[in-house]
Amino acid sequence: MAGAFAALSQPAAHAAPTRYEAETSPAVCTGTIDSNHSGYSGSGFCNGNNATGAYAQFTVNAGAAGTATLGVRFANGTTSARTADLIVNGSTVQSVSFEATGTWNTWVTKTLTVSVNSGSNTIRLNPTTSNGLPNIDHLDFEAGGTPPPPPPGGIIGWATQGGGTTGGAAGSTVTVSTFADFRTQAQAAGARTILVNGMLSGSGTVEISANKTIRGVGANSGISGTTLNIEDMSPANVIIQNMNIRGVPGNDAIQIENATHAWIDHNTLSSTIESDPDYYDGMLDITHGADYITVSWNVFRNHWKNSLVGHSDSNAGEDRGHLRVTYHHNWFDRTFERSPRVRFGETVHVFNNYYSNINHNTSSYAIASVMDAGLLVEANVFENVQQACWSASGYGDSDPGRLVARNNSLTNSGPCEINGSVAALPYGYTAENVGTVKSSVTAGAGAGKL
Ligand code: GCU
Ligand code: CA
Repeated sequence: MAGAFAALSQPAAHAAPTRYEAETSPAVCTGTIDSNHSGYSGSGFCNGNNATGAYAQFTVNAGAAGTATLGVRFANGTTSARTADLIVNGSTVQSVSFEATGTWNTWVTKTLTVSVNSGSNTIRLNPTTSNGLPNIDHLDFEAGGTPPPPPPGGIIGWATQGGGTTGGAAGSTVTVSTFADFRTQAQAAGARTILVNGMLSGSGTVEISANKTIRGVGANSGISGTTLNIEDMSPANVIIQNMNIRGVPGNDAIQIENATHAWIDHNTLSSTIESDPDYYDGMLDITHGADYITVSWNVFRNHWKNSLVGHSDSNAGEDRGHLRVTYHHNWFDRTFERSPRVRFGETVHVFNNYYSNINHNTSSYAIASVMDAGLLVEANVFENVQQACWSASGYGDSDPGRLVARNNSLTNSGPCEINGSVAALPYGYTAENVGTVKSSVTAGAGAGKL
């Protein structure tokens, strides 16, 4: 009685992880189940074949979709790390390095964070070199072990600084469903929220005036054929949200020039890949000392000269001390150059973005820091990217920039080149663990997700 009562009255403990042994079906070991090195749990461990792709796989059960914590217990009695892709339900989510543990009976647990589905999930460790995996003892699995990723929405980063960015919040709301009405409203003086209803096709340039929010209705509204220009305003205080935006032949799609305070959020910006990289100009170009800008939760797809920050190596006078931009939770897919390419700006903060298939040719790259710019490149996922970052080497004719990289995940990608140090950021933020970035960005970025 007393024992039962004591047990029942214990506070609800933190849910214990569930242990899945590598030697127990339905786990798969591409190799042998061995027991010749001591210290393992259960009845043995997976000694994978020493070959690329000789994987160990666990099938785990999650009570609900969300974040899960993995504890992989391994031993690596060699003197060098062994690397593997972590593949969840068939998608590679990060690259894992299993360091040397000294001896084959010294077991260490590596903690990783992933997103899982409700119900059954496969967790595969797939070695990426011919050394194969370390010996794998078990997987401890705990769903909901860490806070969920930040929800889409809410402004963070540089656009919150120096007075912040509110767009048209102080004014009235109008809905436009023709390009002519859109132009009239966007160029009119005074604060307003302009709801764009439908895909409006125009030409030339729309000179957006200060204190505007331009927001698409539903998932399929936006603008094509015209340059959205935010120019010569301090503060501009412009928000562009939930819009489908198309590349403009011969011109930029969005241009922010000598203007401060803009938030470009939850848009889908896409073009087509033409054989001439100059067929379109920039997708989102930020130049002439523009400042206090956040670019968040956008999809940038199929574009060459994607996002330039600082247009000329000889523009230090206007640009140095400005061009402060935060890029976070964007999906850069087949954007073959400039995501972004930064001159002078410091600190340009590039975090929690997902880069995919930036591999058109050997010159393709994701990020370049040049002309003494300072970039913090943090917890981004690079998949199939020819070169993740340039910095110490400079790029094109431009001199080197500085770049600090931390916690990024690179799969089938060229390196993120680092160089020197960069100034601290003045704003608070929480970077999402890189293990969940791909799933939260693919689920949350682009028009139609707000
Ligand atoms: C040794 C060791 C194995 C291990 C192997 C390896 O043979 O005994 O347990 O798997 O090295 O290098 O992978
Ligand atoms: Ca082995």
